[in-house]
Amino acid sequence: MSNVQSDALVFFGATGDLAYKKIFPALQAMVRRGHLNVLVIGVAKSGWNLEQFKARARDSVEKHGGLVRAAFDKLASLLRYVDGDYQDPATFQALRKELGDAQHPAHYLAIPPVLFGTVVDQLGKSSCAVGARVIVEKPFGRDLSSAQALNRTLLRTFNERAIYRIDHYLGKEAVQNLLYFRFANAFLEPIWNRHHIDNVQVTMAEDFGVQGRGAFYEETGAIRDVVQNHLLQILANLTMEPPVATDSESVRDEKVKVLKAIPPLDPADVVRGQFRGYRKEKGVAPESQVETFVALRLQIRSWRWQGVPFYVRAGKALPVTCTEVFVKLRRPPDLYTQADMPPNYYRFRISPDVAIALGARVKSPGEAMVGREVELLATHHPTAAEMDAYERLLGDAMKGDPTQFAREDYVEEAWRIVGPVLGSATPVHEYEPGTWGQKEADRLIAADGWHNPEMKEADHEG
Ligand code: BG6
Repeated sequence: MSNVQSDALVFFGATGDLAYKKIFPALQAMVRRGHLNVLVIGVAKSGWNLEQFKARARDSVEKHGGLVRAAFDKLASLLRYVDGDYQDPATFQALRKELGDAQHPAHYLAIPPVLFGTVVDQLGKSSCAVGARVIVEKPFGRDLSSAQALNRTLLRTFNERAIYRIDHYLGKEAVQNLLYFRFANAFLEPIWNRHHIDNVQVTMAEDFGVQGRGAFYEETGAIRDVVQNHLLQILANLTMEPPVATDSESVRDEKVKVLKAIPPLDPADVVRGQFRGYRKEKGVAPESQVETFVALRLQIRSWRWQGVPFYVRAGKALPVTCTEVFVKLRRPPDLYTQADMPPNYYRFRISPDVAIALGARVKSPGEAMVGREVELLATHHPTAAEMDAYERLLGDAMKGDPTQFAREDYVEEAWRIVGPVLGSATPVHEYEPGTWGQKEADRLIAADGWHNPEMKEADHEG
């Protein structure tokens, strides 16, 4: 069953926010590319009928992707809608009926994790799970033990090969390109180790706050929201060993291996912050200790990386919206350069645009052997015609390719790493919105200094 194409797509939470912002636009794009030609059944409890559901789909693509009339009309003809309570077996009988002859449906759970168990059990009881796959949205658990419990729930009905855990960062071009760039070029691998790399920084900055999602964020915080998943995935792509082959398990084995080499975080290596004003957000406790910013330092105890500090930083209400990796190389011996000159580096911008840059020194014209810094830059500006992360990942799941999905052992390793610093294990410091967190974060990186991504003009040129 592993490579069989899914012959129906069912999505739970069909009237929700994720469906509205991401899923309908992705479905329209799939139809447009000729990648989707099976029934798409939305399930939710909103008291809606099919016409209302189609109207919602249309509204969604108009607002979040751009209506493409022919593709949308085709998508609309594929849409079905089942309205009902997830506790009620009748909902799933109605779903079974809508599935008709479909033998291999893909069930996408775009719903809060507390409902996963209910829906999965009902899928099992109604025989909607026979020959099926299940696609689950993050957050996958709140810590190691809840992730394990969630997995046991899924395994009651589906086997691991049929479970697709979405981390939408894995669907991003630039995140996949980290792996490609590393292993499709000859020049990088010889220096990609402790002998040549001084330190590595990963920054995910957002210049907005929690955007009305205060209640969600209170349960989450930056570590659970983006570090345990998105940022550790980036780190794994940057640091894993070359896989022996490109099949899904060879790639995923290496990701798990590199996480195994990371010791659990030490609270002394973590600084948490909260932007001023967060406590006034709707759904946020007046004394909230939840972090909207985190900076941390970790080690990878492997032959390749021992001794290289890795710094990871994520936050809301920072000066820019940008995700960037900065890899600082060791300095050359002093001949033409001096100790106070910036060393070479690689810079990988993940979003909003995609860039790979190499910071180097070249001689300035003139008699003296003195030079200046230049950046050799390759950039790419994603266009609307390119696949977005959700289109790619839904397509992969329906094809039965799990490479870009988190395997259970990976999820558990990631929770093991962040476990000691979840919740209020460390104090939370207030910072001004629009600044780079707070001074405490500088202490972590005293020797190296943070690299703050800049939105330079050059970054916006082709
Ligand atoms: C989500 C987080 O997973 O990723 C959000 O829940 C965050 O808090 C978002 O804003 C960022 O995704 P992207 O693709 O816009 O970088």
